[in-house]
Amino acid sequence: MNLADPDNFGLQCQGVSHWFGENKVLFDLNLEVQAGQFVGLVGPSGCGKSTLLRAILGTHPPHRGEILTLQNGRLANADRPGRDRGIVYQKYSLYPFLTALDNVALGLKLDQTTTAFRWFNWAGWAKKRREFRDRAGAFLEKVGLGQAMHLYPSQMSGGMQQRVAIAQALIMEPEIILLDEPFGALDEATREELQEMLLRLYEENAEVKAAGGKPPYTLIIVTHELNEAIRVGDRLVGLSQYWDWEADGHEHSPGATVVYDKAVPVFRPDERPEYELFDNIRREIRKHVYNPGVLQRRDEHVSVDPTP
Ligand SMILES: Nc1ncnc2c1ncn2[C@@H]1O[C@H](COP(=O)(O)OP(=O)(O)OP(=O)(O)O)[C@@H](O)[C@H]1O
Ligand SMILES: [Mg+2]
Repeated sequence: MNLADPDNFGLQCQGVSHWFGENKVLFDLNLEVQAGQFVGLVGPSGCGKSTLLRAILGTHPPHRGEILTLQNGRLANADRPGRDRGIVYQKYSLYPFLTALDNVALGLKLDQTTTAFRWFNWAGWAKKRREFRDRAGAFLEKVGLGQAMHLYPSQMSGGMQQRVAIAQALIMEPEIILLDEPFGALDEATREELQEMLLRLYEENAEVKAAGGKPPYTLIIVTHELNEAIRVGDRLVGLSQYWDWEADGHEHSPGATVVYDKAVPVFRPDERPEYELFDNIRREIRKHVYNPGVLQRRDEHVSVDPTP
């Protein structure tokens, strides 16, 4: 990746290590993401996926190493939260007293106006408010909620609420969006619909790229479902504490690191992948990422250039 080129840059983690007291969680983790990539991040429960997302988000910077993101057009350390990074959790974080539209518009309101402005510049605020609601409406259309903008969270299904949460992240136009098991609480059919919605964003990336622009959406999605990671991602990254750290000269396990990183097939939103065809990928991942009994060199399944 050409780091000097902001049109390609998504994220860079360099030598990231993190621990909680004696509990060594992340070790010397290196990861570069290009703008427009959809990275599926998988790994055994407790290996540190959420810890890594929190480090990238900037709420919990790593004890060692550096995480760089594009902030106001320049590469900068992600050691505090910024609007260049957005996150979506499994648990919907909507305000119950706001409609879908106002939940989505809220981020812009807080980011671009002050209480004093809203109180003392009524005409200015009325104009801005319309503008924010129009944009919120456009993003709700994008996530398939054009007909449900005026519903309150209690009137929406779990899948609809999660679409609102995604629109909340999208409207801030972050450089990268982190999704931590975003569909974990949804039933299978709803899950597939939301995967399709993400794939439509991927398609939009391709259209913008074809027209010579910078793809607007870059994602890291943590999931326990390998099929979901294969379907939504164009690249699959496996984080694991199971690797041959003795070969690297460590007496005790120093923590989880990237042990798998390969491009995976890209699907159209309306395409239903034949998952049987990806048995080999799943088998490889189960063996080299999830199996404590198989310890390989950490770079054995890491492609030099996992660009699809
Ligand atoms: N705030 C914290 N204080 C102490 N230990 C923590 C804290 N947060 C995480 N840990 C520990 O760090 C390790 C990694 O946790 P993390 O939540 O990142 O795993 P994960 O890969 O996201 O797991 P899961 O797949 O179950 O969500 C665990 O051993 C956990 O107990
Ligand atoms: Mg987690």
